[in-house]
Amino acid sequence: MAVKTLKRSFWQRLLGKPVTSPPLDASCWSFSEGKVVVDLSRAPELSKPGSAVRLEGVDLPKRILVVHGDDGEYYAFCNQCGHGGRRLDPVPETNTIQCCSIGKSTYSYEGKVLAGPAKKPVTLFPVQKMENLLEITIL
Ligand code: FES
Repeated sequence: MAVKTLKRSFWQRLLGKPVTSPPLDASCWSFSEGKVVVDLSRAPELSKPGSAVRLEGVDLPKRILVVHGDDGEYYAFCNQCGHGGRRLDPVPETNTIQCCSIGKSTYSYEGKVLAGPAKKPVTLFPVQKMENLLEITIL
């Protein structure tokens, strides 16, 4: 599996500024009873393989990175690097995600560490796709 580095400036990495944004329509997702439901029809950011959004909020117990993988599948990761806890981004056309920080720890879609200083894998949450809805079980 290829390990590539996302192009980011030194300052972006130092400050831990991720490429991935929250969805423009903040109401495209909801959280209840341990499950996050994302309405893909209201999250155009996830329409193409290689794309992603980050979900964060006061009621959500864990930050989530939702990735529309290069393989066409959807993945949901705990958005916390196994090294220092910084946020993650997908690296297009590599089937990997990468820490936005200086260390650039890189993980497979299974959450396994492929490169960088992280010693712990990233947690992957189960995702079920039903028509235009993604159901992510986080608890
Ligand atoms: S916090 Fe991710 S590599 Fe250090």
